Amino acid sequence: MSLTTQQNLRAYVDYLRDLGIYDLYRRDEPQTLLPEALRSAIASTATTAKGAPLPAPPQRMAAPPQRVAPPPSPRTPLQAAAKVQSPEAETPRNLPPEFSVPMPKPVSFDDLAPLPLQIIPPADRAAALEAVRAEIGDCTRCPLAYAGRHNIVFADGDPNARLMFVGEGPGADEDASGLPFVGKAGQLLNNMIGAMGLKREEVYIANIVKCRPPGNRQPEPIEANTCSQFLLKQIDIVRPQVIVALGATAATYLLGVRQSLGSLRGHWHSSRGAKVAVTYHPAFLLRDPRQKGEAWKDLQMVMAELGLKPVAKA
Ligand code: URA
Repeated sequence: MSLTTQQNLRAYVDYLRDLGIYDLYRRDEPQTLLPEALRSAIASTATTAKGAPLPAPPQRMAAPPQRVAPPPSPRTPLQAAAKVQSPEAETPRNLPPEFSVPMPKPVSFDDLAPLPLQIIPPADRAAALEAVRAEIGDCTRCPLAYAGRHNIVFADGDPNARLMFVGEGPGADEDASGLPFVGKAGQLLNNMIGAMGLKREEVYIANIVKCRPPGNRQPEPIEANTCSQFLLKQIDIVRPQVIVALGATAATYLLGVRQSLGSLRGHWHSSRGAKVAVTYHPAFLLRDPRQKGEAWKDLQMVMAELGLKPVAKA
């Protein structure tokens, strides 16, 4: 596959992911591959290495209805408990073998650990965050450590912030500088923060994963789940009143739900004792600026909660 084709496909996948669409291959409908509109869009831009258009992906035949025997009921209390607690992953149903890798279920931050009994006093929060950074060290806990990372991107901002933004993971600029949201998406985030009547230094900014996924791909569940323990500690130290989940990846891991962004926006969720609002990732807004008005609605909901007034335009 040529580089341009790969980049086109990547852009489509990113676009769908920002909209909260993860499962391009829908599990309940094995006959459905990509939506027709997307398939023709890809076919019209994708070319082979020699420049010829790529053939359309094969249509999958509808799977014949299968009779599934009911699972045997557990025999002992131990077996019953094991049935409730496992498996972590969804069991694939009637999938062709090439798609039958189980997709791990996201786990909400609230389910990962009980809320801390001890509240870190405001004056000690900076030091507590430094201790978390020291604990991370020169991390090799997940594959991202070996994927060309230059810097671990811990966080930026006020250790006592009332408002926290959580993104997906560092991009190239963040990997080079060691700070979150400093590239083009970061500039837009700064503008969003400014429009809310705040300065970047007054909020706390972090990501689901602290190392750059190669090619800015979405973090794998193993990477996000391995890293999330540290974001969880950061949230518990800062204790923001409101967290804004920027994009579907942040929402998925903070809340433990894999749902469309559209269904998560516009109302409050909760994580670690904070109210959580979900909005579009700034990188998505750069690709589709028509959605900026929608994002502004989300931020206005946050502003009302925090008693912030929008900045009057000069
Ligand atoms: N995108 C993110 O999700 N996080 C960053 O820090 C930068 C870009």
